[in-house]
Amino acid sequence: MLSIIVTIAIVALVCKADKPNIVFIIADDLGWDDVSFHGSDQILTPNIDLLAYSGVTLGRYYSHAICTPSRSALLTGKYSYKIGMQGYPPLTMSDDRGIPMDLKLLPQYFKDIGYSTQLIGKWHVGASRAEYLPTNRGFDSHFGHRGGYMDYYEYTYEELWSIGHVSGMTLFRNLTPAWDVEGYITDVYTDHAVSVIKNHDTSSPLFLMVAHNAPHSANDGALLQAPPEIVRQMRHVESPERRIFAAMMKKLDDSVGNIVKALHDKGIIHNTIVTFISDNGGMSYGQFNNFASNYPFRGIKLTPYEGGIRVAGLLWSTNLNNTSHYWDGYMHVTDWLPTLLSAAGVKPPPDIDGIDHWKNINSNLPSERQTMFEIDDTSEYASAIYGDYKLVTGDVDKGYGIHQGNNLTGIIGKPPSYVKAILDSTMYRVLDSIGLTFNTANLSLRNNTTIKCDVSSVPLCHPSKETSCLFNIKEDPCETRDLSATYPDLVLRMQAQLEQEVKKTIFRKGPVFRDPLSAPSRFNYTWDVWVK
Ligand SMILES: *[C@@H]1O[C@H](CO)[C@@H](O)[C@H](O)[C@H]1NC(C)=O
Ligand SMILES: *[C@@H]1O[C@H](CO)[C@@H](O)[C@H](O)[C@H]1NC(C)=O
Ligand SMILES: *[C@@H]1O[C@H](CO)[C@@H](O)[C@H](O)[C@H]1NC(C)=O
Ligand SMILES: *[C@@H]1O[C@H](CO)[C@@H](O)[C@H](O)[C@H]1NC(C)=O
Ligand SMILES: *[C@@H]1O[C@H](CO)[C@@H](O)[C@H](O)[C@H]1NC(C)=O
Ligand SMILES: *[C@@H]1O[C@H](CO)[C@@H](O)[C@H](O)[C@H]1NC(C)=O
Ligand SMILES: *[C@@H]1O[C@H](CO)[C@@H](O)[C@H](O)[C@H]1NC(C)=O
Repeated sequence: MLSIIVTIAIVALVCKADKPNIVFIIADDLGWDDVSFHGSDQILTPNIDLLAYSGVTLGRYYSHAICTPSRSALLTGKYSYKIGMQGYPPLTMSDDRGIPMDLKLLPQYFKDIGYSTQLIGKWHVGASRAEYLPTNRGFDSHFGHRGGYMDYYEYTYEELWSIGHVSGMTLFRNLTPAWDVEGYITDVYTDHAVSVIKNHDTSSPLFLMVAHNAPHSANDGALLQAPPEIVRQMRHVESPERRIFAAMMKKLDDSVGNIVKALHDKGIIHNTIVTFISDNGGMSYGQFNNFASNYPFRGIKLTPYEGGIRVAGLLWSTNLNNTSHYWDGYMHVTDWLPTLLSAAGVKPPPDIDGIDHWKNINSNLPSERQTMFEIDDTSEYASAIYGDYKLVTGDVDKGYGIHQGNNLTGIIGKPPSYVKAILDSTMYRVLDSIGLTFNTANLSLRNNTTIKCDVSSVPLCHPSKETSCLFNIKEDPCETRDLSATYPDLVLRMQAQLEQEVKKTIFRKGPVFRDPLSAPSRFNYTWDVWVK
């Protein structure tokens, strides 16, 4: 009897110790062309790049085109339109809405199997009621902002109501406004993440999500914000706005390096999976422009073109097998939930849209995902990916739907040295000290992750509510050549597929609803919960 108990205890101990820690880092409105592992010489992100080169770059990683839908899909493993969280506009702070309470979220799954679950940063999937908040949905703690973005220094968030701008503080420590905090928010979140890792009790595995505000724009009137001394280091960037954006990216890249260093200092780096993704494409143009670039992809955030939904993604662990450091398969934001559960040795739930890629990424096998859908029933556009083909239909803003970003990437003089940036990075030293020393030959991987297209002087296909455009996104990733007249049968078949999906779409109210009961002036000028 005693020996059975002892055996069970040992098995339990071993299982617990075996579970990998997971550090999930999310960038906000980061464009395809805003990381140097995709080829940018203008914005150097050596720490992120080294994670990509020494882990696995997810070359065809897709998300939804907007924050609230992406984050809802990430947390539930379901397409946002099936849970009423799709489309434009994303959630405001004055709208009484959140991910439906009957859905189990990613952190809850990890909490159930013994993880310590911590959220730092953005939530944006419901904050009007206490029940919608992270600490009621599987996170042991939350330090961060509850809405879409905020001022990088003041932590204020503004909405334009009929009475004018309405502003309030939106940084919280669990249920309490964090009035005591000072500093640039990217640094503040990084320091907090480092301290969570440092103080982590390793008797349980850690699930840490770091959802940065960066590089999203802040409020109207002060859209781009970075410490002036970092902006001064970006004088090679021609566009004055993008110079500030580049400094915001430098802070984000430093954050990634410092977080991985903290894992190393804690002695848990060999049993930790690190991911880095963007929630959607960059906003190069239009309202809340952050001067991000998705070039050479077509389209920006809020569009179903590749620039809106095909985004930076990577997975890193020292235990990954068989890595050619690049995975070419389709992966969708809904796939993280089953993939990470699988990495933790847990069978994923059956009733989701996500697909478990853990084994296939590890063995460098093709993806089991064939299709991906993007449906926004308020803007009234949709896209369907099926194998090599993509159908785009509906009402997509034409200004948003062209090849934006090219005019942002100008460099004054010579670009800074990429190799030097790599060798000087925190990540380089961390990899070196764990025996993953990098040589410049390893940088040839950069060629594989860089996409080049000729997008000059082509008349682009723009769809309408009655017409569709069809692209071969494997051969023509920049969506320049419409094939709908060449493959009319395929168009019909994909339209039928899309209509099946549209039938599953849960209606959500739109457009924007501003409930005056949410007014920050009622809550000491904070955007606190306002529905009892
Ligand atoms: C990699 O392969 C080794 C040996 O086959 C195995 O023990 C380990 O679990 C594998 N790692 C992953 C992440 O699958
Ligand atoms: C990178 O590209 C080269 C040349 O096109 C190719 O030989 C190699 O297999 C690619 N590597 C990966 C990891 O895709
Ligand atoms: C490595 O990949 C090959 C196919 O690419 C596969 O046959 C093999 O099982 C993989 N090894 C591991 C340890 O995953
Ligand atoms: C860049 O070019 C695009 C496309 O022509 C245009 O819409 C946008 O206003 C330009 N942006 C800047 C900053 O010049
Ligand atoms: C760098 O490339 C060498 C082969 O040239 C390889 O042995 C090594 O594992 C690579 N380093 C990393 C960190 O991928
Ligand atoms: C990438 O490929 C180009 C040729 O297409 C070559 O000139 C360059 O040296 C390669 N870069 C790396 C880092 O391998
Ligand atoms: C109200 O807001 C101020 C900052 O404007 C803060 O110092 C104070 O602690 C807040 N009061 C309460 C009760 O939270």
